[in-house]
Amino acid sequence: MKTNTKLYETAAALLASGKGVLAADESDGTAGKRLAMVHLPNEPENRQDFRELLFTAPDIEKYVSGVIMYDSSIRNSTDEGIPFPDVLTAKGIMPGIKVDLGVRDLQDYKGEVITQGLDNLTERFKDYYDMGARFAKWRSVVSIDENETPTDAALKMNAIMLTRYAQLAQEAGIVPIVEPEIIHAGDHSLQQAEMVTTRTLQILFQTLIEYKVDLAGLILKSSMVLAGDSHPQQTSPAEVAQATLRTFHMSVPHECAGIVFLSGGQAPDRATENLNAIGKLGGQPWPITFSFSRAIEEPFLNAWDGKPENGSKAQEVLLETCKKNSMAALGKLN
Ligand code: G3H
Repeated sequence: MKTNTKLYETAAALLASGKGVLAADESDGTAGKRLAMVHLPNEPENRQDFRELLFTAPDIEKYVSGVIMYDSSIRNSTDEGIPFPDVLTAKGIMPGIKVDLGVRDLQDYKGEVITQGLDNLTERFKDYYDMGARFAKWRSVVSIDENETPTDAALKMNAIMLTRYAQLAQEAGIVPIVEPEIIHAGDHSLQQAEMVTTRTLQILFQTLIEYKVDLAGLILKSSMVLAGDSHPQQTSPAEVAQATLRTFHMSVPHECAGIVFLSGGQAPDRATENLNAIGKLGGQPWPITFSFSRAIEEPFLNAWDGKPENGSKAQEVLLETCKKNSMAALGKLN
């Protein structure tokens, strides 16, 4: 296998100790949900203000190694006309891009979905690379429903899509983040979550290996392993840490460059506490850190409240949140 030095350097920079990734890659529709929290209409200039405040926040580069953007935001600029990827690069933060185009129902598989977006991906990667992107993300979605979902058929088809995306990303000099999100909403138990996450990751990595994806130039973005949000017995941080790491040891080859977590709708403090418990167990074969969206953006949005006069305060809150998660990734929060 050829040596992808550039990919390894990118992955190492993203996974640098004490840093993590900000996932600011909401589609325009989902960005509207964030703006609704601060009573702003979902208009391009409000989305721009939201992202400009995030990306220009002083000192976040101390804790943030990369930012994932969406197609419309990687093409966007500050009020002064500086393209967002250039703002990030100037701070030493790596620009990234979400390239999947969302999910569609998988016919005849009730409740299961397939992620789309492979069409023209080679050309899109070339454009994004020219704009400064050096890593990318593709998200597939797995729901747990008693003994019915996920089916192996859906897991396999999504693994093929993730694998093809990863091949094309590496060919373009871009580090793929593969994200099979196990949906936290639901009444499944911790044991079910562990079983499903293990199966999902095993199928994914078998497929990546089968198609010769270079795992040393690839990052896994995973859900933490925990009971569904409506299960009567919620999972403690120590249990999350044990179940999550057990799962990774059963399914993630040591060659994989590293693992980052999505927050998956957990309350921000809870996501951070769980990350801290994982960090405390320390000494894993892979670097492990955060790639949160909601768990980082929510405190920021609450402080901003959509008001220009709150911008600096909100950026301070953002810095504080990133710092807390950086410490949590190292298991040094408390
Ligand atoms: O695809 C999901 C995002 O990259 C992470 O979002 O932290 O809000 O789950 P989240």
